[in-house]
This record gives sequence, C-alpha cells and structure tokens, in this order.
Amino acid sequence: MTRSARHRRPIVTDQTLTVRDNRTGDEYELEITDGTVRASDLGKIGKTEDDPGIAVYDPGFTNTASTRSAVTFIDGEKGILEYRGYPIEQLAESSTFLEVAYLLIHGELPTKEQHDQWVHDITFHTFVHENLKSLMQGFRYDAHPMGMLLSSVGALSTFYPEARAIHDPDVRREQIVRMIAKMPTLGAWSFRHAQGKPYVYPDNELSYTENFLSMLFKMSEPKYDPDPRLAKALDVLLILHADHEQNCSTNAVRSVGSSQVDPYSAVSAGIAALYGPLHGGANEAVLRMLKRIGTKDKIPEFIEGVKNGDEKLMGFGHRVYKNYDPRAKIIKKACDDVFEVTGVNPLLEIAQELEKIALEDEYFVSRKLYPNVDFYSGLIYEALQFPPEMFTVLFAIGRTPGWLAQWLELVDDKEQKIARPKQVYTGDRTLEFVPAEQRWA
Ligand SMILES: CC(C)(COP(=O)(O)OP(=O)(O)OC[C@H]1O[C@@H](n2cnc3c(N)ncnc32)[C@H](O)[C@@H]1OP(=O)(O)O)[C@@H](O)C(=O)NCCC(=O)NCCS
Repeated sequence: MTRSARHRRPIVTDQTLTVRDNRTGDEYELEITDGTVRASDLGKIGKTEDDPGIAVYDPGFTNTASTRSAVTFIDGEKGILEYRGYPIEQLAESSTFLEVAYLLIHGELPTKEQHDQWVHDITFHTFVHENLKSLMQGFRYDAHPMGMLLSSVGALSTFYPEARAIHDPDVRREQIVRMIAKMPTLGAWSFRHAQGKPYVYPDNELSYTENFLSMLFKMSEPKYDPDPRLAKALDVLLILHADHEQNCSTNAVRSVGSSQVDPYSAVSAGIAALYGPLHGGANEAVLRMLKRIGTKDKIPEFIEGVKNGDEKLMGFGHRVYKNYDPRAKIIKKACDDVFEVTGVNPLLEIAQELEKIALEDEYFVSRKLYPNVDFYSGLIYEALQFPPEMFTVLFAIGRTPGWLAQWLELVDDKEQKIARPKQVYTGDRTLEFVPAEQRWA
C-alpha cells in the first residue's frame, strides 16, 4: 500500500512564532510547521515544577489539528473536495464506488489487474457467518437499523480474532476487504429486520450496489433485476460520502483505533458517532421541513420565520463549506436520474424553490449559507423507498472506505500516540470523606 509523493504539498518549516508570557516577561520562539504550532511546544511556556505549562483549550477541536493526513482535502471557502488529490466531481462522474474505495485505501488509482482483483475479493467476502445472522435476528422487532449495524460490525471482531494483528499488512488488508464487502449485507439485513422480512443472501453475480438493492428489496423472484439507473445513483451517493477528513465519526475511529484495537471495533465506534443527530441526521430533518412547508406559496412565510430566528433552514450551512457544498451539486443531478425511474418526489419542487429564494436572500448570502449534502439526499433516499432510519446506514456504508483509509494512516503514523486529551479541572479538591453512617446520622 504505497503512495506516490508526486503531488504532495511541501512541508513549510522555516517559520516561527514569538510568544511573550506577560506573567513573567519570558519570550519563546515556537516553530510553525504547515501553519501549525505544536501543543507540546506551548506546554513549555511557563512550565515549572509546580506549573504544567500552557495548554490549549479547544472543546470540539475546532482549531486543533489532530493528525497529518494525505487522504482528503477540503477547501470550504472555495467549495473544493478531493480524495487523494482527485476532485469529487470527476470521481462521481467517471469512477465507481469500489474504485474510489481502492483509491482511498491505497492512495493511488488501481491498474486493471489491481481493480479486478479488488472487486473480486470484495465480492467474494459479501457473506457473513450464520451465527452473526442469528445475532441480528435476536434484536427486537423494531430495532433501529443503525443500532443493529454498529453492534454487528463490532461483533465481527469476535469472528475474526486475527484482526488484532494490526501491524501485519496482510491481516489488515483482509479485514479491510471483509468490512467493505460485508457492510451492505449487514445494512440490508438491518433494514429487512424491522420490516419482518427474511434476510436476503448476497448475489455475487451482481455489482456492489446492485447486490445491495437485491438484498434490500428482493422478494420471491428467483433473481432480483435491479434498475441500473438506481444502482448508478446509489453508487454516486456512496462515492460522495466516502470520506470527509477529520469529522466526528472519523475522529472516533482514529481515537478508538489509537488504543490499537482491531479495526472492526474502531469502525463500530465511527458508526456510533454517525448515529447521533448532529452528524448523520440532517437529511431526515430536511424531509420533515419540506413536508411541513407543504406548498410553494408557504415558502416566503417559512423564510421569514428562519430570518427571525424561529428555526433553521435545514440542509443549508456547513461548519466547513462557506460556499456551495460540491456534493450537493452532484446530488441535485442524481435526483433527476432517480426520479426518472421512481417518478418525481413532489417535495422536490418545494426544495428547488426554497433554494432559489434562499440563494437570492441577503440573510443567507451574507452568512454564506448554501445547500449542503443533506439538502437533496433525503429526497433521493425517500424516492428509493428508504425509511429515514436507513439514511445514516447508507452514509455508514459509503463512509467505510474513508474510515479504513484514515485508520490505516493512523496505524502507520509513527507520531501517533493513544488519544488522551487534557482537561481543565473545575471540580472540588481535597475534601474529607465522611462515612455514610456518620453523614446520615
Ligand atoms: C451545519 C451548521 C451546524 C453549521 O453551523 P456553524 O458552522 O456553527 O455556523 P453558525 O451556527 O455559527 O452560523 C452562522 C450564522 O448563520 C446562521 N445559520 C447557520 N445555518 C443556518 C441555517 N441552516 N438556517 C438559518 N440560519 C443559519 C446562524 O444562525 C448564524 O447567524 P448569526 O450570525 O446571525 O448568529 C448549521 O449551518 C446548521 O445548523 N445547518 C442546518 C443543519 C444541517 O443542514 N446540518 C447538516 C450539515 S452537513
């Protein structure tokens, strides 16, 4: 798994920052590397026997680089997203999810032989152990599919105990292939479970997304015949979700992975992070919002409410993108392809009109609020007959290669240590414990 250094950005190291500690008058010169100073260098400021030195307080890591990474590049101001240097638009237009997965994991596009072997290996590993199926069948009849997915991915670690050998490249590759291969199986079974339908085994004559559709929707027909336009749209959606640098779930994978646990456990931590509404749940909120608006003539009233601070325009705005989210543009196009098969989702008209009005309104323009990836994705998922609980499962399947690429980078990174942030302690100190019988007497 080598990666070419062809297009790497040079590391800039010849700059410094001078810091004056006004408590003592001492000055410190800190090295600036690639626009960052080392927190450990800050720790030398004011350090004495009694004082641990200056630390950085940054809940939510909003301005803390936790790693050096060569996987994904984002320029939020310009609306740029690149995987391993390739623009997302080109990958969505001309690549496939499995090729993108190869790119993310290996750092380079595959040759024809490498590609064919990769697709073969992933197809070969789509089945899961029957005991894992029994485990999934043990969930309550209405279990949330994300809860099932995160548990079953975690459970995979017990089926492949050799996965603990994380420093063995061959073992690592085997688990990576297994996980990318089995995620659609586990995701589809989680979906069927709540519907009381039998789990459908993989059909390895179909492509990755065709097989996924088959496991989701096949009933009594001997062979499921997926619509290639839907399979393609789903493939594009998976590509768009494949990585997004150090987001909450990727940080969870890295943080848990830093204890050198097996990759199944680390990825299940990522799925758990994605389960939360602040991470993977916005597209569902968009659907609810569009349904509530109901008709186009209600849009101006709704927009006024947003501007008055009554609520948010869901699917707009992003912590990183201060421009049109490049993924939103691609999804908008995929909508047309899907609706050609399924018929137009009536909410699309409202969404388009809402976007048009918002993009011309001073409130949204001045705050750089543009549609994000979730604005249109829920409409497609709904047209594909996915209930909202499944939206994040689809996200997790797409994100798996990204989590694994970041995990690989972590395992090989000599600078990485077990993740263990500092705290600023605000509680009591040196209280004297009084036994219960005396306190309650
Ligand atoms: C994504 C999001 C959490 C980013 O938040 P953030 O980077 O912390 O941005 P802020 O909350 O600081 O927003 C900056 C300003 O824009 C406003 N704003 C941000 N998103 C808004 C939205 N969707 N609708 C209306 N106003 C919004 C904020 O109220 C704030 O206004 P102010 O300066 O008058 O106080 C936020 O845009 C949001 O909640 N969007 C809707 C939910 C969503 O679509 N999430 C999916 C993200 S992929």
